[in-house]
Amino acid sequence: MPEGIEDLPGVGPKTAEKLREVGFDDFMSIAVASPVELSAAAELSELTAAKIIQAAREKLEMGFETAEALLEKRKDIGYISTGSSNLDKLLGGRGVQTQAITEAHGPFGSGKSQLGFTLSVNVQLPEDAETPGLNGKVAFIDTENTFRPERVAQIAKIRGLDPKEVLQNVFVARAFNSDHQMLLAEKVSDLLRDGEDIRLIVVDSLTSHFRAEYVGRGTLAGRQQKLNKHLHLLQKMADQYNLAVYVTNQVMARPDAFFGPAMQAVGGNVLAHASTYRLFFRKSKGNKRIARLIDSPDLPEAETVFALTERGIDDG
Ligand SMILES: Nc1ncnc2c1ncn2[C@@H]1O[C@H](COP(=O)(O)OP(=O)(O)O)[C@@H](O)[C@H]1O
Ligand SMILES: [Mg+2]
Repeated sequence: MPEGIEDLPGVGPKTAEKLREVGFDDFMSIAVASPVELSAAAELSELTAAKIIQAAREKLEMGFETAEALLEKRKDIGYISTGSSNLDKLLGGRGVQTQAITEAHGPFGSGKSQLGFTLSVNVQLPEDAETPGLNGKVAFIDTENTFRPERVAQIAKIRGLDPKEVLQNVFVARAFNSDHQMLLAEKVSDLLRDGEDIRLIVVDSLTSHFRAEYVGRGTLAGRQQKLNKHLHLLQKMADQYNLAVYVTNQVMARPDAFFGPAMQAVGGNVLAHASTYRLFFRKSKGNKRIARLIDSPDLPEAETVFALTERGIDDG
């Protein structure tokens, strides 16, 4: 039985029920609340509320670690080649990193899903391969019904792998709505706990259900809170299991103002803060695509060209 909010000292069944009613249904939502908010929500004294918040924070082990310990952990960072040396270079030299969320934005057909497929193949390669991987498996959450095993098999075969074996190492699930999508992320966490050697989680796309369900409902805050929770779990798995998370986000093509409001429409600040590496794809001539990296904590903003070929993502 996983721990619930009843496991916090001071939270009995009645209080738990009141808290749940207003959305304080896990340690994280309580840990980031203020004593005033929580006391109002569950008719508690502010002192009790503060104690509950403190306990939730301890459950989550929120706090300081030394920079040295962090550096030690970062030494374990692994990389998955995107398939294009240009794109790998844009991402710092070796591709998509573990312990981080990498996000691709772009219009329809810009290569977001193709990158998900190529990473799903490459993660299975050894570290010393031409396009290095992590000898690991994949969990692929498909929200738009665009996952194609045939395409993954094609990319695998052309890269010298046994397509059947490659497909056996990809756990796929179709998410029917945003709640289901969030549940599937929890299922991935169960698979990891059971010892599955998953080194890549793909969510393609992260935002389509959230966008569709909350359109014009005036509940943007609710949507952002849910998205935040979802992203938090993804980041937690990335850290705990030293795996890479790749998410996609469709934006409308606006060649006149690529960084304008259309891009900010989905996910907003929540996504901007949660993603460590943000890629923006746009179409170029034929099968060529342009990728731009922005807001990286340790890499310069830059652009490069890649191509979409039968190999998946390839150099342009
Ligand atoms: N088997 C293939 N061989 C070559 N190119 C392909 C193949 N399959 C898909 N593509 C290319 O990928 C494009 C779709 O990219 P995709 O990543 O699915 O778009 P999105 O960004 O909407 O997820 C197609 O328009 C085509 O250019
Ligand atoms: Mg797609």
